[in-house]
Amino acid sequence: MLSSFWKSFLIGLVSSVIADISPIEVKGNAFWDSKSGERFYIRGVDYQPGGSGNLTDSLAIESICERDVPIFTDLGLNTIRAYSVDNSLNHDACMKKLADAGIYLILDVNTPKNSISRLRPARSYNAPYLQHVFATIDAFANYDNVLGFFAGNEVINNENTTNTAPYVKAVVRDMKNYIKARSYREIPVGYSAADVSQNRLQAAQYFTCGNDSSAKSDFIGINDYSWCGKSSFLVSGYREKVDMYENIPAPIFLSEFGCNEVPGSRPFTEIGTIYSTQMSSVFSGGLVYEYSEEPNNYGLVNITSEDSVLKQDDFYNLQGEYNSTKNPTGDGGSKATVSSIECPTLSDNWVATDDLPTLPEDAETYMKDGAGKPKGNDGASTQDMGPDDESSSSASPSSSSSGSSSSGSSSSATHSKSKGVAGALRTPFFYEFDTKANGVMLTLMIGGALAGGLFSF
Ligand SMILES: *[C@@H]1O[C@H](CO)[C@@H](O)[C@H](O)[C@H]1NC(C)=O
Ligand SMILES: *[C@@H]1O[C@H](CO)[C@@H](O)[C@H](O)[C@H]1NC(C)=O
Ligand SMILES: *[C@@H]1O[C@H](CO)[C@@H](O)[C@H](O)[C@H]1NC(C)=O
Ligand SMILES: *[C@@H]1O[C@H](CO)[C@@H](O)[C@H](O)[C@H]1NC(C)=O
Ligand SMILES: *[C@@H]1O[C@H](CO)[C@@H](O)[C@H](O)[C@H]1NC(C)=O
Repeated sequence: MLSSFWKSFLIGLVSSVIADISPIEVKGNAFWDSKSGERFYIRGVDYQPGGSGNLTDSLAIESICERDVPIFTDLGLNTIRAYSVDNSLNHDACMKKLADAGIYLILDVNTPKNSISRLRPARSYNAPYLQHVFATIDAFANYDNVLGFFAGNEVINNENTTNTAPYVKAVVRDMKNYIKARSYREIPVGYSAADVSQNRLQAAQYFTCGNDSSAKSDFIGINDYSWCGKSSFLVSGYREKVDMYENIPAPIFLSEFGCNEVPGSRPFTEIGTIYSTQMSSVFSGGLVYEYSEEPNNYGLVNITSEDSVLKQDDFYNLQGEYNSTKNPTGDGGSKATVSSIECPTLSDNWVATDDLPTLPEDAETYMKDGAGKPKGNDGASTQDMGPDDESSSSASPSSSSSGSSSSGSSSSATHSKSKGVAGALRTPFFYEFDTKANGVMLTLMIGGALAGGLFSF
């Protein structure tokens, strides 16, 4: 009697703490609900209230989730993407609110101070950086509603930055190995790519190629702003992309979409196409850029105070489109199994071989003993903490000498102000940071000084 009483008491207690949401799994080139066995299509928004580069961790502030989760539900979402968090804070309350609402999180593990640098990729790939990444995994791995982690966002943002790819792919590998070493659930790890016409296919191939499954991205996100206004499957270029990505052996989704170039509110007519069999053999839904109105004018809602938002026309347009769009039935034409693909051939547009840098020796201890105490976001940048010599890396066939790097940096600075290249320009977060960091690096090179403290924001 007593023991069965205690048993049900404990079961009740546990289930009131742990929300009932089933992890999402990758099989073939699609996502699946591990309990219902149904195909999972991402219906989501990109979530960075306060704007890009604002390190306020909204997922650690209960009053903010209390305000926003009901709005997500009203809109009909099942996923949000957050671009940065503070790994030293507690996220239980917000993650539970999301789980209770049936909402998953896709999380970028980087911050402006802790990420692979376009200017000095080899140097930014180092043990302190990996400690940050692994501690972020520790902070989120036990939530069943973490759909996946992004190891990087738009690190390749033009035709001249493909030399960074081996470092980002090494981070994917290290994250997957860490998740395995710590015996966490098999949480998918992926990369969020800019839609760069010169190398977008190669990028998707590169992150999913080869026979070493430990380094293969489990999914690919594409930041794609090609459907503007009331476009169409054909005119937007979506059809071309379905054909182009057909043989990528991993789920693909739009990690940012929602072009705002046509004046007036956004009609979001792409929803009917994204969640149709025209796309579903290759694409698994997407994330609208973005939840809140910020200076770049992509908001669905205006944040008016800590506890209220004002829904804009974009919000109601999107809600109406979701309301009238069901997911395709069954497997949606996706592939149940996928086979390995060859890595892209080297060319002027693609300089990265699949010869990845090895895990820094100082980081091996994290695999054995865990990442240790999370350091949060207040410390110095880890970007300049690695070895100085870029050219010693066999992974980067194009020389990343300071000369070519600084020309890369000035071209990215121009890039951020120019119009017309989708995705890379509009995703402000790491982009702006890199531009800033490059400026700092140039100052460092000119002054001959080396001081991590200059990387403060
Ligand atoms: C960052 O975002 C928070 C919360 O959304 C906001 O209160 C704060 O003013 C923002 N900071 C900046 C510098 O924009
Ligand atoms: C939301 O903010 C934008 C930009 O500040 C403004 O133009 C717009 O009128 C606001 N919308 C509402 C519904 O207040
Ligand atoms: C969408 O459906 C919800 C729930 O049925 C409803 O409250 C809302 O008004 C609908 N929105 C639009 C724009 O049709
Ligand atoms: C994978 O392994 C097979 C058999 O060893 C080999 O033929 C193929 O070229 C490899 N593929 C890649 C992408 O390395
Ligand atoms: C890429 O490099 C080429 C050759 O140096 C240069 O002409 C071009 O402007 C660069 N493009 C960007 C976007 O930086």
